[in-house]
Amino acid sequence: MAPCPRWEARGDGGRRVEPNVTFSLDAFELTLTDIASVDLEALHALSIGVGWPHRASDWQMLRDLGQGLAAVDEIGRVVGSVMWMHYGSDAAMVGMMITSPRLQELGAGRWLMSEAMRRNEGRRLALTATRVARRLYRSLDFIYERPIHQCQGEALAPPDMPMPDGATIRPIGPADHADVLSLDRTATGMDRATMLTRLLAEAEGTLLIRDGRPEAFALCRRFGRGHVIGPVAAATDADAIAVAAPHAAAHVGDFLRCDTPEAEGDFFAFLMRCGLADHDIVTSMGIGREPYLGSRPDGPRRYALASQALG
Ligand SMILES: CC(C)(COP(=O)(O)OP(=O)(O)OC[C@H]1O[C@@H](n2cnc3c(N)ncnc32)[C@H](O)[C@@H]1OP(=O)(O)O)[C@@H](O)C(=O)NCCC(=O)NCCS
Repeated sequence: MAPCPRWEARGDGGRRVEPNVTFSLDAFELTLTDIASVDLEALHALSIGVGWPHRASDWQMLRDLGQGLAAVDEIGRVVGSVMWMHYGSDAAMVGMMITSPRLQELGAGRWLMSEAMRRNEGRRLALTATRVARRLYRSLDFIYERPIHQCQGEALAPPDMPMPDGATIRPIGPADHADVLSLDRTATGMDRATMLTRLLAEAEGTLLIRDGRPEAFALCRRFGRGHVIGPVAAATDADAIAVAAPHAAAHVGDFLRCDTPEAEGDFFAFLMRCGLADHDIVTSMGIGREPYLGSRPDGPRRYALASQALG
């Protein structure tokens, strides 16, 4: 047992702690438990503690869609998390990796990620790494890096843009869901049907039709501090702008966010003109095969993420 800090009398009769007095505490003992079994508010507090904007309902959606682990200390406090979502039979997206600040740089993050990897052995893995986490993931063999620009801000009215050749835009209805799933699969190389079906139930969507065929889509839903535009799948900047613009127009004056791998070109410039500043750069990483690689070189590709955790 370490001694109690000593006190010294001050001239004014008050008392203050001597500087440089140290006090050793025992190390943490952590237990991993199913993330579904812990209090939702404890997870919410964990993400607030690292400055993330997720609402309790964002956590709820992730728990409904995926699986994960929570690290719990001896008296039941939730001090770490990691989640994963199966995309089809061969891929998993890992996310919501958090350790509480006073626990960081002691190895808990590596332990959580290693456990997530062990539980997904045989699947190719994808994640979106924050700056602080990138070195850790590199050391765990995540490669195939691609920068993602987190663009956000108070939305301005989108610039007037001509409709791309031969295209019409309409809202996504239930009869379009199969087309959206198919476009997304071609754009990402992954079967994200379960996740997208959930998003389609709560998002507004736009679909671009050309020659009677669906060629691009964008969803927009409530998330974090406001709304997020994503996912967006399209083959060209012009098509991506055409499906995203109605969502930007619908949220003028509100907080709007869009996470995009397209750092150059007209789509990125469009986001800037809509008032979405380039707030942060994170990194899309993967093991096993380059994640989010479209299956047709001239076909749709990922213009915006559903979120950093969902890819
Ligand atoms: C990213 C995060 C989860 C890492 O968690 P962590 O508990 O600090 O992870 P670890 O302790 O296992 O590893 C972090 C670093 O500490 C180092 N470290 C591990 N044990 C250590 C020890 N005993 N002494 C000193 N350093 C140590 C690791 O080598 C690693 O360094 P590196 O990044 O230079 O390779 C944590 O910083 C966090 O929650 N950040 C905020 C949320 C976030 O960005 N999450 C990532 C989402 S992708």
